[in-house]
Amino acid sequence: MLRLHEITSGYGSTQVLHGISYEVPAGEVAVLLGRNGVGKTTLLQTIMGQLPLRQGTLTLGEQDIGRLPTHERARLGLAYVPQGREIFPGLSVLQNLRVAVLGTKRREWRQRLDRILADFPLLADKLNDSGRSLSGGQQQVLAIARALITEPRVLLLDEPSEGIQPSIVVEIAELLVSVAGERGIAVLVAEQNLDFVAHVTPSVNVIDKGRLVAQVPVEELLNTAELQHKYLGV
Ligand SMILES: Nc1ncnc2c1ncn2[C@@H]1O[C@H](COP(=O)(O)OP(=O)(O)OP(=O)(O)O)[C@@H](O)[C@H]1O
Ligand SMILES: [Mg+2]
Repeated sequence: MLRLHEITSGYGSTQVLHGISYEVPAGEVAVLLGRNGVGKTTLLQTIMGQLPLRQGTLTLGEQDIGRLPTHERARLGLAYVPQGREIFPGLSVLQNLRVAVLGTKRREWRQRLDRILADFPLLADKLNDSGRSLSGGQQQVLAIARALITEPRVLLLDEPSEGIQPSIVVEIAELLVSVAGERGIAVLVAEQNLDFVAHVTPSVNVIDKGRLVAQVPVEELLNTAELQHKYLGV
């Protein structure tokens, strides 16, 4: 569904990504694992078009999207939940969802809302609560729901487990797997939390200094302190 071929990107004279090739199939959750500063956010922003792609190609289905502006990529089906989850704290949960799809007609909006609330029942109980009154984990769920209500083909998530209680980390991981499967969405997650990763996928690709350096079974990572040190610096 989403294909990266020899992607390079960076800031000014600093090149951060050095030729990343990767593919995320529809219906699956793929994880790129990497410690702080290795280029995870840079990669997701490059896929989204918030940073220019310097070299390489980026394809969505059959379409080359690597030089399109961000809003065009969004229109074609890319959705992005940035690091630190951006929701509107002063708006209610319902308003947060509505503003994500302002252009849709009332009937379509109701259908999409019903579908989202079926997938995320915890939001159904909080529709009138303000964004800021939610816990960190609930805000992350809202941020994911806001992305999904646009009915994307590809969902990009930047460290969804950051700063969230362990119990809801697992819940979010399991939700993503079921939503990806049910809706046939290609989900790409950048993470460094092994607990999250263990509930999402049996195997991860490791990113280090702007390169994909290894594909490792999660089981092996969980059981091997040296590997955790090598790839995550913990
Ligand atoms: N706006 C910027 N200008 C210049 N350099 C930047 C900028 N943003 C990030 N960098 C550098 O690019 C490299 C990759 O950063 P990036 O934010 O992509 O890493 P990351 O893997 O997302 O890290 P983290 O886990 O801390 O979020 C780092 O060396 C960082 O210092
Ligand atoms: Mg980052």
